[in-house]
Amino acid sequence: MSTTETSTERRVLRPATLDLGDIVLRPWGRALDVPGGTVPALMAAAADPVIDRWNPLRIADPAGAEAYLDRCDTGWVKGNRASFAITDAADGTLHGNAFLGWTNQEDGVATIGYWLLPTARGRGIATRATTAVTRWAVATADARRIELWHGVGNEASCRVAARGGFPHEGTTRASYRYGDGDYVDEHLHARLATDPDVG
Ligand SMILES: CC(C)(COP(=O)(O)OP(=O)(O)OC[C@H]1O[C@@H](n2cnc3c(N)ncnc32)[C@H](O)[C@@H]1OP(=O)(O)O)[C@@H](O)C(=O)NCCC(=O)NCCS
Repeated sequence: MSTTETSTERRVLRPATLDLGDIVLRPWGRALDVPGGTVPALMAAAADPVIDRWNPLRIADPAGAEAYLDRCDTGWVKGNRASFAITDAADGTLHGNAFLGWTNQEDGVATIGYWLLPTARGRGIATRATTAVTRWAVATADARRIELWHGVGNEASCRVAARGGFPHEGTTRASYRYGDGDYVDEHLHARLATDPDVG
């Protein structure tokens, strides 16, 4: 590491593949290929009502999916947003998404999030992906504090946060407009790089 490197330069999110055995996290972008096609897979995810409720992708057509992939590529090029497709190690099918983006790159503060296709839920995949992306961001980009926000009422996401070692820090009022169009209260969970490992 150069002694003249600034904290912002040190905190660049570089494309990576995270191999978790039965699942593999791959960079989202135009180069990603999943069985059946990445654009149709994204459109199917966007059409899922639970994803649309809690993590609206706002993808209405193939052009919208391509624009989404372009934004993922831009995040990797700028090094400020890491978007991973969660894929099956055996056949490459898409299970979901895990992303981490800087909210304050200089200070090492990031936000993490995720969604899974219905067939991938209920197996702890979101927790494992969240843990892997968190460790990667701490190890390779010096993430210091990673925040995880979810709407009050999204119990599955609250459990992912708790199991992933992101303690609940508070509840914000009417802080975010999710897929149903209303501003809803949110839980803020966060994990510090110095917090004990969750195993
Ligand atoms: C949130 C989400 C990623 C959870 O991933 P997952 O890997 O399926 O999580 P799991 O099935 O392992 O469930 C985690 C926990 O939540 C519980 N849970 C799942 N669905 C639940 C529900 N509808 N109500 C209450 N608890 C629920 C599970 O029982 C499990 O509890 P445990 O830790 O005590 O075993 C997934 O439900 C999803 O994609 N939701 C839509 C998009 C979304 O909400 N993204 C997050 C936005 S903040």
